[in-house]
Amino acid sequence: MSEQDPKTDRPALSTSLIHHAYQPPAGFGSVQPAVHKASTVIFENVAALRARDWKQKAGYTYGLHGTPTSFTLEERIATLEGGLQTLLVPSGLSAITLVDMALLSAGDEVLLPENAYGPGKELARNELTRWGIGHRFYDPADASGLASAIGPKTNLVWLEAAGSVTMEFPDLPALVAVAREKGVTTVLDNTWGAGIAFDPFDLSCGVSPALGVDISVQALTKYASGGADLLMGSVTTRDAALHLRLKLTHMRMGLGVGANDIEAVLRSLPSLEIRYAAQDRSARALASWWQGRPEVTQVLHPALEGSPGHEHWRALCSQAAGLFSVVFDERFAPAHVDAFIDALRLFRLGYSWAGPVSLVVPYDLSVMRPGAGRRGTLVRFSVGLEGVDDLIEDLRQALAALG
Ligand SMILES: Cc1ncc(COP(=O)(O)O)c(C=O)c1O
Repeated sequence: MSEQDPKTDRPALSTSLIHHAYQPPAGFGSVQPAVHKASTVIFENVAALRARDWKQKAGYTYGLHGTPTSFTLEERIATLEGGLQTLLVPSGLSAITLVDMALLSAGDEVLLPENAYGPGKELARNELTRWGIGHRFYDPADASGLASAIGPKTNLVWLEAAGSVTMEFPDLPALVAVAREKGVTTVLDNTWGAGIAFDPFDLSCGVSPALGVDISVQALTKYASGGADLLMGSVTTRDAALHLRLKLTHMRMGLGVGANDIEAVLRSLPSLEIRYAAQDRSARALASWWQGRPEVTQVLHPALEGSPGHEHWRALCSQAAGLFSVVFDERFAPAHVDAFIDALRLFRLGYSWAGPVSLVVPYDLSVMRPGAGRRGTLVRFSVGLEGVDDLIEDLRQALAALG
């Protein structure tokens, strides 16, 4: 760092570069919004610092509490979800943990569908249990079962449509109606619907009175990003008081999202609808192809007739995520199914979904759903953006390894 030049009285070069007086002209217009990066936010004066309320979107206080970039994505996700307020968090799983931590206290109980996203169940079994918060799993195919599971301590009901991996589509309006009648807050993991397949805040499909969930969370990691290259989550509401409860916990937990990741999601959002539709088309074509194959006993895709909850999907949606599972006939040992997966060339082996590359993951049903009497190896396919015929050819050639 150079010192001030005594002959010229000029500040040190580093000072000049840090406190440069140049301001670019205002009025720059571009397709994508500017990206603002900050931990520190500069205030004009002490009065401004004292007057600023971090809870209001009218100004800025600190990077964790929002920048023009994070506010912009929050507003767009709120629009996507049909909500009014959105919080961004570092992953889909942290959206789940935020809701649980904001709304549950020792002595409360939370209800989760049996087919919920696994790590959310693990959170209930571990941290929530340690903190004195009870949990119970309910059958999402049975609304009256949910009604009897709701007790005096029940403070939150989780919903998921379609269920993770086994893809059952629940009667969401019936489940929400049950919880609402009992005065219990509902939260939907809307990652599958992505704000496209149905409106989480109006499950009555426009018919009055509107019936919707209280909170919708998404793993933006999946469709909103679409790139398989970042992690992010969102928590959306339509109720200012509920949003504030979530926002206060969000602040106290220090949940921040980096501007580069937000920029990537902002760049992906304009193509979300097109990608969702394209991946839906391809996944249905592949699922139908599997229906004609003798190696599998079940194809689990809510848009296929005969799939669990198909009638509920049809009542609520016309679109579906590019995700489905097949159950291999028990005559194929898990090692044979592994050989099939290893022989795939275009489908890559890996977790997550909604990215450009098609993915595959095997699951052991007896481990995933112990006690449900389900057996056989289930393979979940996440369909990317490759050509469908190429993907079918990949499946066909890999089946030769099944033995
Ligand atoms: C339905 C569902 N919800 C939440 C998540 C968690 O998202 P993330 O990986 O961003 O934590 C996933 C991830 O696979 C998911 O499938």
